[in-house]
Amino acid sequence: MRISKPYLRSTSIQCYLCLLLHSHFLTEAGIHVFILGCFSASLPKTEANWSDVISDLKKIESLIQSKHIDATLYTESDAHPNCKVTAMQCFLLELRVISYESRNKTIDETVENLIIIANSSLSSNGDIKESGCKECEELEEKNIKDFLKSFLHIAQMFKNTS
Ligand SMILES: *[C@@H]1O[C@H](CO)[C@@H](O)[C@H](O)[C@H]1NC(C)=O
Ligand SMILES: *[C@@H]1O[C@H](CO)[C@@H](O)[C@H](O)[C@H]1NC(C)=O
Ligand SMILES: *[C@@H]1O[C@H](CO)[C@@H](O)[C@H](O)[C@H]1NC(C)=O
Repeated sequence: MRISKPYLRSTSIQCYLCLLLHSHFLTEAGIHVFILGCFSASLPKTEANWSDVISDLKKIESLIQSKHIDATLYTESDAHPNCKVTAMQCFLLELRVISYESRNKTIDETVENLIIIANSSLSSNGDIKESGCKECEELEEKNIKDFLKSFLHIAQMFKNTS
């Protein structure tokens, strides 16, 4: 089973090092190596990825099928686009409840992986300040199945707009 790794944003550092190394050897071969080196450094696109968030969510959905967790979770089921970051932060906080209640290592790891990827995706968009949005505690409480359905919906929204 594949657990997607959170991505590290090291590309620009690598390129900068490349540039330092090669600026003294600007022969034709040197330029060639420089270009190749930077190309491969930037290849594994280090942007965090909402597709990975979505596949982790689907995995969690199928892992909890056989479990009977009757927690209810604060759920934003109709997020306004101007409040989607706030809503996503609530989803991430509430997701930990599933991990806690399920007491299952696989679910736990998937949840943590998802939170890291989604959180870094949010912060890579800059520190967006939304106002007038509902606090997590003001949201309706839903069962886990409906919670995951709404979560999937908002993750799709992020995927389609990034
Ligand atoms: C995101 O992940 C999917 C599946 O792992 C991959 O096909 C896609 O190229 C990735 N996109 C970016 C921008 O990394
Ligand atoms: C976790 O849950 C999955 C799916 O229900 C199950 O296959 C696995 O054995 C569980 N692992 C542990 C450590 O309980
Ligand atoms: C997301 O990251 C921020 C800062 O890096 C941290 O304060 C916050 O607790 C994280 N959110 C979750 C749900 O882990």
